[in-house]
Amino acid sequence: MEFSNRLNNLPSQFFATLVKKVGDAVLEGRDVINLGQGNPDQPTPPHIVQAVQEAAANPLNHKYSPFRGTGDFKKAASNFYKREYNVDIDPETEVAILFGTKIGLVELPLALMNEHELMLLPDPGYPDYLSGVGLANVEFNTMPLLGENNFLPDYSSLTEQQKQQAKLMYLNYPNNPTGAIANLDFFQETVTLAKENDIAIVHDFAYGGIGFDGVKPVSFLQADGAKDVGIEMYTLSKTYNMAGWRVGFAVGNSKIIEAINIIQDHLFVSIFPAVQDAATVALNDSQACVKELVDLYEGRRNALVEACTSIGWKVTAPKGSFFAWLPVPDNYTSEAFADLLLQEADVAVAAGNGFGSTGEGYVRVGLLVDEDRLKEAITRIGKLNLFGYVKGKG
Ligand SMILES: Cc1ncc(COP(=O)(O)O)c(C=O)c1O
Repeated sequence: MEFSNRLNNLPSQFFATLVKKVGDAVLEGRDVINLGQGNPDQPTPPHIVQAVQEAAANPLNHKYSPFRGTGDFKKAASNFYKREYNVDIDPETEVAILFGTKIGLVELPLALMNEHELMLLPDPGYPDYLSGVGLANVEFNTMPLLGENNFLPDYSSLTEQQKQQAKLMYLNYPNNPTGAIANLDFFQETVTLAKENDIAIVHDFAYGGIGFDGVKPVSFLQADGAKDVGIEMYTLSKTYNMAGWRVGFAVGNSKIIEAINIIQDHLFVSIFPAVQDAATVALNDSQACVKELVDLYEGRRNALVEACTSIGWKVTAPKGSFFAWLPVPDNYTSEAFADLLLQEADVAVAAGNGFGSTGEGYVRVGLLVDEDRLKEAITRIGKLNLFGYVKGKG
């Protein structure tokens, strides 16, 4: 049987190869330190687990959920935005419940765009954005995120044609893979661009809970007029270590929210109500667990940067997310360097070009193992003597 053109159109999963290589190395009995993936290593906080256990025992939760999610969860999302960002959100018209934000990001082009219309995507960027491009059969142009611009897109380098044709733009700060954060000025500039050129904006705020050095990442919706042009997607996967639970939401522009809700009315009945109840608890209750998690990641980040410096690897400390974006030594491509680290040091990292061609020259390291393992990984890399650093000579 032939697959549909739509299915054949989907991009191949770049990181499937990495998963296979790491799996093979582990099968050979090697002690691989896997820094290549983005799966939170900590458990969901106990009060959230307890909430789902209690909610699962409630027969009311064994029925179909309301199609567009429970009122309590939508109110919790609204309260969360008011409390954390001082943004007003109408729970009924400005919130859409998502089975994790991956689904929202992938289904949105189907809901908002016609075939061959133009989307703007960050490069490097979260690879699953391209799944939405493939499914909806739309065109995309990339916006390079360069170190010299603090990994923000430079809107002045968009052509008039790109600005006029683009219908949808995705942004993501704190950024996967670069660990960069955005400020309110940048989001304000984004709103202006969007208004002038009628571009819908989606800010993927997956790492919104994780900012370092006392800096709380800003929400796109804090910019004046942001709700006129866009939405923000927020996942519970990272802030509360709930990646396996599949729960998140989108908030903002009511027209875009309606588009998500309509497509979801046809694709799903909403999430298991017990999960929505527990997600409500996560958003409403004490946020002490989030602070603890950020402190943990910040400790790991500091350990990583210190270890890199000690072997002569000049790196920039990420400002948010749980990733570090590290430059590869001269004369290596990202993939050649990642392969070398896996073969010679039993350390797995993600090659930067897997996130887009602008990612060439970098590898992404996840802060998702404990400090000792992180240091051990860098010690092993140091033994390869790639950075021309002689101890005692600075
Ligand atoms: C940038 C970014 N956006 C979205 C997601 C999707 O998160 P989820 O589907 O778990 O909500 C991820 C997950 O890794 C991510 O890194």
